[in-house]
Amino acid sequence: MIPSYANFGGKIHGGILLSLMDKAAYACASKHASTYVVTVAVDHVEFLQPVEVGQLVSLLASVNYVGKSSLIVGIKVIAESIKTGEKVHTNTSYFTMVAKDEETNQPTLVPPLLLETREDARRFLEALKRKEIRKAYQNELNNAKTSLAVEEDLPLLAGERCVLGTI
Ligand SMILES: CC(C)(COP(=O)(O)OP(=O)(O)OC[C@H]1O[C@@H](n2cnc3c(N)ncnc32)[C@H](O)[C@@H]1OP(=O)(O)O)[C@@H](O)C(=O)NCCC(=O)NCCS
Repeated sequence: MIPSYANFGGKIHGGILLSLMDKAAYACASKHASTYVVTVAVDHVEFLQPVEVGQLVSLLASVNYVGKSSLIVGIKVIAESIKTGEKVHTNTSYFTMVAKDEETNQPTLVPPLLLETREDARRFLEALKRKEIRKAYQNELNNAKTSLAVEEDLPLLAGERCVLGTI
């Protein structure tokens, strides 16, 4: 990680790591699909440890799931101190990529995934679960948004760190 990747606090920008992760996801998904792919969703991003200038960052990526045109790539980010060899797992995220036909620009079918090991099967099954949970979460979030009644819910703000103006 070079100094120009750092923020004012001297740590590596989250955006730099996200960009590297997106590139790894692209390489992994397009290699499987043998076509170009686009990033549709990232589930989810949480940087639990800062990454320092001078650390060696490794990204481990694998295609965990394929649907018809979509692929889910799991990316594990590891930051290593070159001096001590100490390794820190900073985050793991799951990128949903969609394969596109270059001529029509429409989603196109990707080859099935060969599950060679128990770990491959576990990752595929976990991806299915994550998809299901994500769908339920999105439905719940949409319901919560539509049922939000600002006037009625104002008492919920008592104790929160906000100051009510003339609403
Ligand atoms: C990705 C894209 C082609 C999907 O278009 P769409 O009209 O929803 O197409 P479909 O309904 O056929 O969905 C295609 C696949 O994407 C998946 N998908 C669509 N939206 C999704 C989302 N928000 N999250 C996860 N997967 C999604 C569908 O489940 C489907 O998967 P499957 O083929 O394996 O069953 C379209 O949204 C797109 O081009 N987005 C822009 C992508 C981009 O430019 N990314 C770079 C970011 S700047």
